[in-house]
Amino acid sequence: MKGIILAGGLGSRLRPLTLVTNKHLLPVYDRPMIYYPIQCMVNAGITDVLIVTGGTYAGDFLNLLKNGKHLGLQHLEYAYQEGEGGIADALKLAEDFADGEKICVILGDNIVEGNIRRAAGDFFTQKAGAKILLKEVPDPQRFGVVALDGDGPTARITGIIEKPENPPSNYAVTGIYFYDNRVFDICKTLQPSKRGELEITDVNNEYLSRGELTHDILEGWWTDAGTFESLHRASTFVAQGGANHADLAAARAAAKH
Ligand code: G1P
Repeated sequence: MKGIILAGGLGSRLRPLTLVTNKHLLPVYDRPMIYYPIQCMVNAGITDVLIVTGGTYAGDFLNLLKNGKHLGLQHLEYAYQEGEGGIADALKLAEDFADGEKICVILGDNIVEGNIRRAAGDFFTQKAGAKILLKEVPDPQRFGVVALDGDGPTARITGIIEKPENPPSNYAVTGIYFYDNRVFDICKTLQPSKRGELEITDVNNEYLSRGELTHDILEGWWTDAGTFESLHRASTFVAQGGANHADLAAARAAAKH
């Protein structure tokens, strides 16, 4: 399975910090934000990765990450997203890289405590379709949110709503997704949402309507880091231990390269 990290966008909710750099290069405790999704991929055994980025500071990713070997990657590629078309628009750029394989997609500002290896393994054996990871949150209005037909582990998803005013549950769709290769055809059929973007939630709803969307609850803490509050929370979580902390020494050693 190949990995795709989406690290574009203007980072407008983090201005003025993002006027002089890309959001995903900002520090989260002792490392640049982009290290975390990379580490998450490596921990899941995914070492062939594409980073999609854009904007004025795209070249800084190459300066920082080089060929990715020092971070545990076997192979690292980059793609450049023109403009601000949204997550599903950025994903379109990964079609050649995916080359028919299943993919794991992580949003570059998502940071997890745990390991997604089991979910990756489950998706590897899933015949086709997609898999999303959910997390219970206190502020579901900020995210894509699932409607469920019951409680507990057997509950099924009946719909996904992007940033609902009245959330149908407290379960947010995290920015960690698994797709089969048909995702690229689905992305090509999407229309821009009210915020002018191609929404990943529309992709997930398409798989849901085909009866091919599975889900898991993500273990450990999870946060995005795209607002001042969540960026601060991410740094605090990491500082308190977690977020692949066992790999901290390795990341520090790598930083000396
Ligand atoms: C995006 C997705 C949303 C998801 C979130 C996770 O939101 O659109 O469905 O819950 O990432 O971080 P955005 O960061 O574009 O506001």
